[in-house]
Amino acid sequence: MAVLIDGKSIAQSLRDEIKRKTELVLSQKGITPGLAVLLVGDNPASQVYVRSKELACLEAGFHSVVLRLPSSTPEVEILEVIKRWNLDTAIHGILVQLPMPKHINEQKVLFSISPTKDVDGLHPENVGRLCLGLPGFVPCTPAGIMELFKISNISLTGKHVVVVGRSNLVGKPITNLLYQKTPNANAIVTICHTGANDIRKYTTQADVLIAAIGVPNRITADDVKDGVIIIDVGINKISDPTTKSGSRLVGDVDFNSVLPKALAITPVPKGVGPMTIAMLLDNTYRSATGDVFI
Ligand code: GUN
Repeated sequence: MAVLIDGKSIAQSLRDEIKRKTELVLSQKGITPGLAVLLVGDNPASQVYVRSKELACLEAGFHSVVLRLPSSTPEVEILEVIKRWNLDTAIHGILVQLPMPKHINEQKVLFSISPTKDVDGLHPENVGRLCLGLPGFVPCTPAGIMELFKISNISLTGKHVVVVGRSNLVGKPITNLLYQKTPNANAIVTICHTGANDIRKYTTQADVLIAAIGVPNRITADDVKDGVIIIDVGINKISDPTTKSGSRLVGDVDFNSVLPKALAITPVPKGVGPMTIAMLLDNTYRSATGDVFI
């Protein structure tokens, strides 16, 4: 029977620990970690994510700033906000919720964030540091996945990890983390994507499969081998008339179908999702205490 990797409780332990350390650093050094989040537009999923980030900050004892701007906001105004936050000593982390409205140049906005406050790890300086194996900010979802491996005592050395999806938020950074010559990584990594006409050719070779595709229930039993470890990054809302709300969340992996073959698996919800927020708090805490770039 597959082991269920309980991201929710692992994330809660991490958050409790960050809260405890935050109380300590405040009493000993007078520092309160501060996170500023910018949400432009009214994407319903983004609104939920940003609210969760805000509540998590408050629970941890952080200083939290959330700015919600209409989707019509001109790009220059957004760049002004970032410039102000870059200079604000009470803010140690800046996060711009993605996706942004179409008329805004996302890269230009992300590049305007000071790399020392880029707790989302999306600035090219931090992306470059990750590729080079240098210290820096690592994007929260991939960092959370690595933490799940570590806490679950899953050794990756010499394992074949297949990543499905090549996004800047998950696929690319998790690939870069997995092949690093570090005790917690050192894996052999294949990244596959929509350019492959048959992803099954690759996924069935995986000792560890990371699905970050954004397609509900895309990976089924026939796509994996016996004894696989599955990390499901997908959070997809599908309609379900049997539920009160008329919908429910599913991952990129057809959970019930792969379960008999899996050695371990993250559920959706309560798997990878909660880890993203825990790592955002961790990155912000480390930014505030100054131990990121050393
Ligand atoms: N949208 C969905 N996930 C994320 C994330 O991890 N960071 C940002 N900035 N936007 C997102």
